[in-house]
Amino acid sequence: MPRDADHVFRDAPERVEARVTEIHGRVPPGLRGSLLRIGPGAQHVPGAPLHFFDVEGFVAALRFDGGDAWLRARHVGTPAWLAERAAGKRLFRRPFTNLPGGRLANLLQRSLGNAAAHGVHAWGGSIVAADAPGHFLLAADTLLPIGPAPVDAWIDPPAVLSPMARVDPVTGHLTLYAMTPGLVATDTVVFHEIDAAWRRAQSVTVRLPARGSALHDHAFSQRYWVVVEFGRRSVASALVGGSSAFDAIGFDVRNPVHLFLAPRDAAGSIDAVAVPLPPGQQCFHIVNAYDDGDALVVDLVLYDGRVDYRELFPPASRRRHGASAPVVGPALWRYVIDPRTGRARSRMIEGVTGEAPTVHPRWMGRRHRWAYMASPTERGDEPVDHHHVWFHGLAKVDYDDDQHACWSAGRRQFVSPPAFAPRPGATDEDDGWVLAWTIDAARERSTVVILDARALDDGPVATLVLPTLLPGVSHVAWAPS
Ligand SMILES: [Fe+2]
Repeated sequence: MPRDADHVFRDAPERVEARVTEIHGRVPPGLRGSLLRIGPGAQHVPGAPLHFFDVEGFVAALRFDGGDAWLRARHVGTPAWLAERAAGKRLFRRPFTNLPGGRLANLLQRSLGNAAAHGVHAWGGSIVAADAPGHFLLAADTLLPIGPAPVDAWIDPPAVLSPMARVDPVTGHLTLYAMTPGLVATDTVVFHEIDAAWRRAQSVTVRLPARGSALHDHAFSQRYWVVVEFGRRSVASALVGGSSAFDAIGFDVRNPVHLFLAPRDAAGSIDAVAVPLPPGQQCFHIVNAYDDGDALVVDLVLYDGRVDYRELFPPASRRRHGASAPVVGPALWRYVIDPRTGRARSRMIEGVTGEAPTVHPRWMGRRHRWAYMASPTERGDEPVDHHHVWFHGLAKVDYDDDQHACWSAGRRQFVSPPAFAPRPGATDEDDGWVLAWTIDAARERSTVVILDARALDDGPVATLVLPTLLPGVSHVAWAPS
C-alpha cells in the first residue's frame, strides 16, 4: 500500500510551462516576483534508486505578476546528469548512495558528481542551482542551462562551496564560502562577498582548528562570519567505499561539532574562533546572526542525536538501508556568543519545531524578531515517528517574546520550506507574505500557498493548484521582479 509520504519521491515531469488557472482565494496584486524551488527531479536513473538528496536537481519558478501566476520548471541538466542519461547507467557515486557493486565499485571513488539540487537563488541576472560540489547557472526567463557559475572556477575538488548562498542587504553582495578540506594541514574556509557581475568584492581566509569538518550553512552579522559544522569527515573511510560518503562523516558525543566564527574585516588569513555545541547535538541550518553590542547572536536549528536521513531513501530501497536513528528536534536555539573567546550562553525557544528557516531579506545579518520555517505540525503516514524531514505546516517564531504561530496544511499534505516576500513599500519586519509549495496526497496534486505573514495561523490567502504534481523540495527562495 503506497504511503502519502511516497509522493515526495515522485519523478518530476520533464518540463512544465503553464499558466496557473485554478486559484482559490486571491493572489495579492502587490506580489510581484518569482517563487523558486529546487529539489530532486528524476528519481530513478538506471542502476538503483537514489537517496532524495542525491537526485539531480529540478528547478521551478512560479512567477507572480498582477495577480497572474505562471509556472516554469525543468531539470537543471548538469553535465553529470546528461552523461548518465546518455550512458543509460549510473556513472557517479553520490554522497548518500554508493554505486551498485559494493565496496569494490566504490573504492577510491572520490568524484561524487554535482547534483545541483540543494539551494536556489537569483543572482547576476541568472537563476543559480547550488550544491556543495558546485553552482550551476540557468537562464532567468527560460531556466535553460547556461553552465557552471563563475564561483566554480575558484575551487578544485575536493573543495566545496556553500550549498545555500545568502545576500547581505547592507552591501548588496552575494555571500558564500569555499571550503578546502585539509588532507595534511587543517581545513581552510574562504568567505566571499560577490558583486552582481560575479566579481569578488571581499574575501576572508579562515583556518579551522581541525581536518575534515563537514560544513553546511553559513551566516553573517555586520562584523562576523559564522559557519556550522555537522560532523567530521574521514577521507580514508570515504575512499574505502564500504559506507556512503555521508556515513563516513563521523558524529558522536565524544567529538562535539562547532560553530566557527571569523571577523569580516580580517586581513590575510586568520584562525577561526570555535564555539562547541553540546555533545550529541547536531546542526545544519542557521536562522540568522547579528551583532548585539560586543556579542554575536546566532539562531540555530539543533537536533539532539545524529540525523542520518535514512528515511529519505525512496520506498523501494528503504528496507535495504535500514531504519533511521531517532533524534529529537528540529529545535530552535539562540546562542549569544563572545566572539573573541567562543564562550556562549544559549536558550531553547520552547513549544515549536522547524527547519530550513528564513527571515525578511532586509533583516539578514541584523537583529530580527521573526523567522519562518517548515514545521512538523502534525504526524502523517511518514515512515518514522520523529519529524525532522516531514513537514505538514509552517511556523512563524517570535524571538523577542518566545511566541510562535503555526499553520497546518493537514496530515495528508507535505509543506516545503517557506520564502518571505516583503510587501512592496512596507517597512515593518513582518509586513509581507509567506509562500510555500505543497504536495496534497489526498487530491494527488501540488499547490503553492500564500499566507499573510502577520496572520500566519489564519491560513492561506490564496492557494494555487499547479497543473502537475511535483516531488519534494529541498530549499526555496523569493526573487522579486
Ligand atoms: Fe540546506
